[in-house]
Amino acid sequence: MSLVVPVSYGGSPCYEIHLERDFCSLLPCIQALGYQPQRKVCVISDSNVAPLYLEEICCLLAAHFSLCTSYVFEAGEASKHTGTVGQVYEHLIQNRFDRKDLLVALGGGVVGDLTGFAAATYLRGIDFIQIPTSLLAQVDSSIGGKTGVDFLQYKNMVGAFYMPRLVYMNLSVLHSLPKAHLSSGMGEIIKHGQIKDSAYFQWLMDHQEEILSGDLGALEEMVYGSCRIKGDVVQRDPKEQGERALLNFGHTIGHAVEKLSDFSLLHGECVALGMVAAAELSCRYGSYAGSDLRQLKEAIAAFGLPLSLSQANVQGFTPEQVLEATKLDKKMDGGSVKFILLQRVGEAYITRELSDAQILEGIRCLF
Ligand code: GLY
Repeated sequence: MSLVVPVSYGGSPCYEIHLERDFCSLLPCIQALGYQPQRKVCVISDSNVAPLYLEEICCLLAAHFSLCTSYVFEAGEASKHTGTVGQVYEHLIQNRFDRKDLLVALGGGVVGDLTGFAAATYLRGIDFIQIPTSLLAQVDSSIGGKTGVDFLQYKNMVGAFYMPRLVYMNLSVLHSLPKAHLSSGMGEIIKHGQIKDSAYFQWLMDHQEEILSGDLGALEEMVYGSCRIKGDVVQRDPKEQGERALLNFGHTIGHAVEKLSDFSLLHGECVALGMVAAAELSCRYGSYAGSDLRQLKEAIAAFGLPLSLSQANVQGFTPEQVLEATKLDKKMDGGSVKFILLQRVGEAYITRELSDAQILEGIRCLF
C-alpha cells in the first residue's frame, strides 16, 4: 500500500509526496497532474544514478509524452554550479521545451536542487517533479521547494523557493545506496526527532537494527515519519521566516566544517558534528539534559555518524577557523548568527544571543 503525504502552500494543497516500493505508479501519478500527451519531458540525472534508473524512468515516461529526453551531468557537489544549469538550459532550448513541458529530477540532493533551480528560472518557470534516490534527498532536500546551486565557494548561494508538482520516492532504491550515504541521511532523520518529535526519536532508537539491516517496512515507516515532520514545518513556514529555521539545527557549524573539509565529508556527517556541538551548547546554556545529550550521541554513533573531527578523519583547521566559516553562512541575520538550540528532545528554538566565545566552546567539543 502506498503512503502519501500532502503538502500545502499558502493554505492550499500544493503537491503530494508518494512513498512507493517501485516505479510502477510513477506514470499514473504524473498523468493525474493533467499533462497532455503532446507535452515533452526531460529527465535530469547524474553519472551515478543514471546508469541505475534512467532507462526505466525514460521508458515509463515515453509511453505518455511526445518526447522524453535526458540530461546527465558528472555526479558530485563540484557540478552544482550555474555552468551546469546553463547546460541544462541549452539542452531544453535545443529540444524546444516550452513553459508547459516538464522536468524530472532523478537523483540525490545535488540533482534535485539544481533541477529545481533550472525549473524555477527556465522561461520564468516550468513544472518539475522530484524522484529522490538518496535517503537524504527523500527525507530532506526534495521537500519544501528550496532549490539552488553553489556560487564560487558559497554553498547554495543562488537559488529560489520553487515547489515541485510531485515528489515520488521508490524506497527500494535505498538498497543500492552505499552505507555511508544511508548514514548521511540518518543525520537529518535524527535531527527531525530532536527538533520536533521525541516519540519519533525514541522509535528510531528502538528500531536501529531493522533500519540498519535495510528492512523495507522500517525504512518506509522512518521516511514517512520524517516526510511528515518536514512537510508540516515547510507548509507552515515555506519561506523560512520563522519555524523553518529550526530545520537548520546542526547546520551552522555543520556547513562550516563541510566547507573547511572541502566537501570531503558527506552532508549528514557534517550535520551530525554540528548537532553534537549545538547539543553541548544547549546543555551549557539552556535546559537540555545531560542524559538527552548522551542519548543523542548514542544515536549518532549507532547510525554510523561521527561524534568528533578525528572520528570523521578530518584535520588541518582550527576551532577559530570553524567559527569564522560560520559567519559566511546564509543563516546570518543582520550580522549575527542565527543559532538553533534544543530546549529538550522534540523542542528546538532560535537564538541570536550566543557570543563568539560560547560558539567556540561548542566547536571545541569536536576537536
Ligand atoms: N534543509 C532545510 C530546509 O529545507 O529548510
